Amino acid sequence: MHVPAVVAHGGAGAGPHRLPNIEAAVSRAAEILEAGGSAVEAAVEACVILEDDPVFNAGTGSVFRTDGSVLLDASIQTSDGRMGFVIAMSDTPNPIRVAADLLDEDINGLAGDGARLWADQRGFERATVEGRPPHEGASDTVGVVARDATGEIACATSTGGCSYRPRGRVGDVPLPGCGFWVQEGVGVGATGIGEAITKSLLSYRVADRIIDGSGLGDAMRWALDEIVEDGAEIGIIAMGSEGEGLGLSNRTNMPWVKWSGER
Ligand code: GLY
Repeated sequence: MHVPAVVAHGGAGAGPHRLPNIEAAVSRAAEILEAGGSAVEAAVEACVILEDDPVFNAGTGSVFRTDGSVLLDASIQTSDGRMGFVIAMSDTPNPIRVAADLLDEDINGLAGDGARLWADQRGFERATVEGRPPHEGASDTVGVVARDATGEIACATSTGGCSYRPRGRVGDVPLPGCGFWVQEGVGVGATGIGEAITKSLLSYRVADRIIDGSGLGDAMRWALDEIVEDGAEIGIIAMGSEGEGLGLSNRTNMPWVKWSGER
């Protein structure tokens, strides 16, 4: 038996006043894990709470693209080698549910109209996502890493995309190794300027460093100091093989919360 654990963030720039909102999501994940639920279920349900909370740039509260559209990205990966992601989906309040639906399919990812068509065929809610205008200091992305009693780790991330990005732009959240990476004993999620995260293959490289023996804090500090381009606002959450969770950010305020079933 492994100690269940969760770590979650509300996005680069969201600020400490959002901690209670994140605590609500982490409490839900903890409840699921304590009842014997899976890491996937805990990560998805916590992510749904964050997507449904209009203060975050994900799901309901997603910021407009430069043409006024609201397009959603989401991803999930598990330590037993499964993955699902959706890119630039419209009319989908909870894109993480569609990403999770791909975990056991022959395909990993779907984009745009194809993603929405899949969602319609599988009966996922179709509803207008009103979104909101981008503004300086708007938050970016939500993310949850959960570990269950079997030791499986899952990372779920979701976003409307960082502010002032055009229709069709692809950020880090649905790109494996960029906005997320999970393998046995480690899970990492990123938030912030998606282009900088993508160019540095951030989540994969942090995970790799942890697998190589670095502590979570050392690996994350190395990534923020050494591999991310100068000036990019970035945040990272990670969970290691003992279920330890940590969040760290540079030049931005990323609220994060952790929970562990250890008493
Ligand atoms: N980090 C989210 C995005 O750039 O879309």
